[in-house]
Amino acid sequence: MVVIFVAKESEPGETRVAAVPETVKGLLKLGMSVQIERGAGSAAGFADAEFASAGATLVDASAVGTADIVLGVQAPPPERARAQKAGSILICTLTPTLRLASVRALRDARVTAMGLEFMPRITRAQKMDVLSSQASCAGYQAVLLAALHLPKMFPLMMTAAGTLTPARVLVLGAGVAGLQAISTARKLGAVVEANDIRPACREQVESLGAKFVDTGTPPDAETKGGYAREVQADFLAKQREILTQHIAQADVLITTAMVPGKKAPVLVTAAMRQAMKPGSVVVDMAAGSGGNVEGTVPGQRVVVEGVTMIGDTNLPAQKAADASRMFARNILAMFPEFVGKDGVVKIDLAQEIQTAVVIVHDGNVRHDPTAQALAAQGA
Ligand code: NAI
Repeated sequence: MVVIFVAKESEPGETRVAAVPETVKGLLKLGMSVQIERGAGSAAGFADAEFASAGATLVDASAVGTADIVLGVQAPPPERARAQKAGSILICTLTPTLRLASVRALRDARVTAMGLEFMPRITRAQKMDVLSSQASCAGYQAVLLAALHLPKMFPLMMTAAGTLTPARVLVLGAGVAGLQAISTARKLGAVVEANDIRPACREQVESLGAKFVDTGTPPDAETKGGYAREVQADFLAKQREILTQHIAQADVLITTAMVPGKKAPVLVTAAMRQAMKPGSVVVDMAAGSGGNVEGTVPGQRVVVEGVTMIGDTNLPAQKAADASRMFARNILAMFPEFVGKDGVVKIDLAQEIQTAVVIVHDGNVRHDPTAQALAAQGA
């Protein structure tokens, strides 16, 4: 019988877990046995007893060495990676270029490592897409943080003490996170504007009741997969010029603009931010990948010239129960990709999804930037 081990996360601030009692039941139905590292779900609100009553066995960290499949949210530290047995599988968000020592340990231990963030964005894989599920949580949480820090309320209120005008929210980048931020801010009653460079976004923004701020579309704005491409400096300059007056009017600025594999574009310079009213709030969701707003500090909340700038880098972890629920469902949904009806695990790199997500296999690193970085280290 295939043995699955669910790890307790070790990264500071990581509260999520890669399986929840509901998905444990799903894994058992596939004929697997599930082991949960004691305390793995406690920071997300899932007690050991709940996992046990779902049918999982509670184990210590050392059980990782006997598992066939290890599930995690983030990449394990190198010593954990090294402890996995040869031929076993690891499934997590791998961020391989940032975790070279762990990738090296996985390669040398002959583990097959799947990076969930490499899931192809095809219709069939939507239910396996952790980038989307976690971006939804993050977009929601970004608005709540902004509402909490803003000295003003979001909705229009007509009270005996007079009328209060609604907050004005500007969202830059209307992908998965941005659309969820727009929807959440609208539900709280704010007046919302949003911008993106992909033409498909206008209709999506408007359908959520927000106004689209048109800064034009650069040539080749979109890749075949629907992602944005990096824009040229002259386009960015024009975009900033148009955004300036909208930023000055906003009480809340939420930025989510990202380009896969590249540093996030700087959409808001320090001079543009200086035009914001004191008390306004910026949530820079791209803080961890370079930042959309000059002066945001990754992982910190700072007040600069009266503007609260939030650079939290792990927003989904702040809604750990639902973020874990979605993450765990995404993982459960991908099992049929590599486990047959007979319960036998089969790695087949000719398969569309497997070839994209398998980053380490059979002693090889299948991700060029990571392989090159390891080679440069002589590793
Ligand atoms: P992301 O996190 O890479 O980027 C966020 C947003 O920033 C994107 O909408 C992008 O266009 C925008 N952006 C980039 N540079 C910008 C600039 N200079 N100014 C303004 N905005 C800028 O993207 P995310 O949210 O992960 O996905 C984007 C798109 O990918 C989706 O809207 C969809 O088309 C596609 N997708 C497809 C899926 C599927 O079919 N399975 C699942 C999820 C997304």
